[in-house]
Amino acid sequence: MMDVTSSRSTMHAIDTNLNETPNIGEICLWPPVILAPMAGVTDVPFRSICKEFMLAGLSDGSNSDTKPLRTPGLFVNQMITARAFVEENKKTLKLAEFGENETPRSIQLYGTEPNSLREAVEKLLNSKHVDHIDLNFGCPVPKVTKHGGGGALPYKQTIFRSIISSVVHAADGEIPVTVKFRMGIDDNHLTYLDAGKIAEDEGIAAISLHARTVEQLYSGHADWLAIRELKQHIKSIPIFGNGDIWEAHDAIRMMQVSNADGVVIGRGCLGRPWLFKQLAEIYSGKEASPFPSLGEVGATMNRHAKAVVEWNGTEKALRTFRKHASWYLTGFAVGKDARRAIQQINSLDDLAHIVSNFDQDSHLPMNAYRIPRSHTGGPKKVSLPEGWLDNPFEDHELGELAGQFASGG
Ligand SMILES: Cc1cc2nc3c(=O)[nH]c(=O)nc-3n(C[C@H](O)[C@H](O)[C@H](O)COP(=O)(O)O)c2cc1C
Repeated sequence: MMDVTSSRSTMHAIDTNLNETPNIGEICLWPPVILAPMAGVTDVPFRSICKEFMLAGLSDGSNSDTKPLRTPGLFVNQMITARAFVEENKKTLKLAEFGENETPRSIQLYGTEPNSLREAVEKLLNSKHVDHIDLNFGCPVPKVTKHGGGGALPYKQTIFRSIISSVVHAADGEIPVTVKFRMGIDDNHLTYLDAGKIAEDEGIAAISLHARTVEQLYSGHADWLAIRELKQHIKSIPIFGNGDIWEAHDAIRMMQVSNADGVVIGRGCLGRPWLFKQLAEIYSGKEASPFPSLGEVGATMNRHAKAVVEWNGTEKALRTFRKHASWYLTGFAVGKDARRAIQQINSLDDLAHIVSNFDQDSHLPMNAYRIPRSHTGGPKKVSLPEGWLDNPFEDHELGELAGQFASGG
């Protein structure tokens, strides 16, 4: 697989498609940047911090003056499972919440059973709860794929089509429905071109391609040329490229290489929400601001942690901030003791105290810019139901377990 991700390109926006304003239904995106749905990560506090950075990057008015009706990036909520939402599972309802003034409200839905998906969409629409639904077909978790769910599902074209069709019909043109999938199960069972065509035929508004196979999990490089191929194959709806955008200039390179209409940012923003500011700047044709100093990183950590406490109404919620804390500090020389202490914080004061002891002026070494955060595993042979690969057109009774437990993409 050709590695087109690593060579450093100019920090300026230079190519023509960078000014594109892809439409997702009536949502006209510019900059054409999507925060990837990430389970356990893209909650209200994180989405709001990311969006604040995006707006700060546009704060000279370049967005509002020249592109007044544009939505500055799409910040997708975490994935919810259709059945759990329909059954009003308490945890799922909490996951499905949005910030008070959040707009547009975008959520990812997962399910394998057309009826519960339809019900979930109707419920979301009746409560005027969302402006956009993304469908997840990329989950590589074995307990899902072994029942034919997640990233295994697009291989069965009839089932894939019927799921998409039921959701698009339930949305009834009121809100756009998009899909996110991987390239296929493995290199011998690539599905993205067929899946893309099916999605286009069935009225999907846009496609995000995580340019890895399920077998790859998070290993190797995302194949941006596959995004290009999908873009050539699908003419009527926008294609968003996903995988390995670690720095702002990667987004530009991805768009140049793939001709995608926009980009989806996953792990690159973990512990680095200012990536959205740099993206806003670079898409505006400006130089991306430098990586913040450790003092500035600490200030963002305090702000993020405060938002977590406010959103959850208790400092106990800081437990969910600990992983973010370790991502913020990845690559900084803060010492083992500070790292350990930060994993034990129980209050905002604890955090503020640790952060105030950092060397405020120290900077991230350049060789740490691209250290992956969160998932890096793979490759791993994909668990599938018996005979799953025999015939892509054959219908298959999916067990209830295929529609549950999914927790990632
Ligand atoms: C912690 C974590 C949780 C994720 N959860 C989801 C999810 O719920 N739905 C989904 O479609 N993808 C999920 N993903 C995959 C990302 O959306 C994205 O496709 C993937 O990380 C590749 O992009 P990247 O190379 O920019 O990270 C998750 C990824 C991570 C790291």
